Amino acid sequence: MACIIDGKRISAEIREKLKIDIANLKTERGIVPSLAVVIVGDDPASRVYVNNKKRACDEIGIMSYEFALPCDTSQAELLSLIDELNRRADVNGILVQMPLPAHINESSVIERINPIKDVDAFHEINVGKLMTGNFNFLPCTPAGIVRLLDESNIDIAGKHCVIISRSNIVGKPLAMLMLHRDATVTICHSKTSNLAEICRTADILVSAVGRANFITSDMVAPGTVVIDVGINRGGDGKIRGDVDFENVKQVTSYITPVPGGVGPMTICMLMHNAVTAALLQSGD
Ligand code: GUN
Repeated sequence: MACIIDGKRISAEIREKLKIDIANLKTERGIVPSLAVVIVGDDPASRVYVNNKKRACDEIGIMSYEFALPCDTSQAELLSLIDELNRRADVNGILVQMPLPAHINESSVIERINPIKDVDAFHEINVGKLMTGNFNFLPCTPAGIVRLLDESNIDIAGKHCVIISRSNIVGKPLAMLMLHRDATVTICHSKTSNLAEICRTADILVSAVGRANFITSDMVAPGTVVIDVGINRGGDGKIRGDVDFENVKQVTSYITPVPGGVGPMTICMLMHNAVTAALLQSGD
């Protein structure tokens, strides 16, 4: 029977520490980290995520600014807002909530953000820095996953980590991070043959597929660590991960629940990146 990794508790502890660091930065150096959050349109899930990010900022002493733009905002208008936020000395971090409406090219928006304010670490400069290991910011979800493993005293070095995702937000950057930590990494995706067989060879299995009950107990070898990044809303309105939690937890050594696993860690790492941005811009 698995030990359940409590992301809610671990993230609360990290936020408490960040809160103290932020208070010290203010009293000792007059620095108040700040984050601008941009949301375009009225996607309900994005609205919830943005509200959660703002609340987390308020709780730990990060100044937050919200820019809520209508759905028909043009790409030029959005880029001009980003130019303004890049210039503003009172804005340390810029986060543009994804997905953007279809008429806006996401990558040109991401590439417009000054890399030193790119708290998502989505800009190509920050993606490249992650590749070489010379990074300022780590992307939030992958960083949160590694932190969950560290806080649970789960060794990464030498382990076989199977990641089901090749996305720019989760799969690819997580693979790089795990590689920096001396894991052996396999990335799987929708065209992978023998997926179940590969999953059964994992010491650490990470799923970010977006389909409830995708990972079943026959895909997991005894003792595996299972990290569930999925966020799937069922017909009953409840959030579920990718993993058939009740059956898979009988087999694994550790498992993250959904909700209360990776999700709270993502926000926590965003807060961490906002503090890093403030320090970088102060000359540290
Ligand atoms: N949409 C879903 N996840 C994310 C994220 O981590 N950052 C941003 N900017 N948008 C998202």
